[in-house]
Amino acid sequence: MSATASDTGGKFYGSTIGKKIVMAVTGAFLVLFLVGHVAGNLQILSGKEKINHYAELLHSSAGLLWGFRLALIASVVLHVKAALELYTLKNAARPIAYAKKAHRVATLASRFMIWSGYVLGAFLVFHILHFTTGQAHPSFDAHGDVFRNVTTAFQNPAVAALYVVCMGLVGLHLSHGLFSFTQSLGLSHPSYSARAKTLAKVVAFAVAAAFAAVPIAVLAGFVK
Ligand code: HEM
Repeated sequence: MSATASDTGGKFYGSTIGKKIVMAVTGAFLVLFLVGHVAGNLQILSGKEKINHYAELLHSSAGLLWGFRLALIASVVLHVKAALELYTLKNAARPIAYAKKAHRVATLASRFMIWSGYVLGAFLVFHILHFTTGQAHPSFDAHGDVFRNVTTAFQNPAVAALYVVCMGLVGLHLSHGLFSFTQSLGLSHPSYSARAKTLAKVVAFAVAAAFAAVPIAVLAGFVK
């Protein structure tokens, strides 16, 4: 027997729209985190004192830091759970391949979101071992010298390239995700959906380019 929306949760979460809303709200929280994170990262362009002082500030209240981390972990878990369940429901509802190209495009987009989501999950595990806990870093300074941790890491061209490629994937994932957000919350209308799509792309690639600017600036010798 194939899965139905109500097999996979309570009344609200069990409905397809409930899962979509959970994905949209958790996705929006994660996007806000990314915007804050990239704004913080860009302080490295102003020098060592600026970024290290900023990092010190973030770590100054263990309670706030851990409260925020727990909200982040919960958002990632709920976002992934809802995504996988929606994908399973979609496949179960339409086991036969689409005949029309327009429909195939929609399926390709959701397949891409799942695939890029897995890669970004793997990136996140590596990233935390790299810059937060240090096990994946060649010479990690655990005493809060974030400037040193970032500059020594990105002097390796392979590591800088890996980050730039992953940021490209972040841009693609966000551009589709931000547009889906407007649809899931019923904010879309056919007369301005083309503009919403363009705006989603602009915001997504601006965030991705700002992230990528840090490894590029270190590799190019602008930050040292
Ligand atoms: C070039 C891109 C990026 C750079 C240079 C970067 C840099 C950093 C650094 C230096 C830290 C440690 C901060 C500290 O301990 O004070 C950090 C933590 C973190 N980053 Fe990134 N980051 C990048 C992209 C991303 C992306 C795309 C994501 C999410 C998909 C992400 C998620 C996180 C998370 C969850 C943490 C741990 C925060 C915590 O300590 O609770 N980062 N990042």
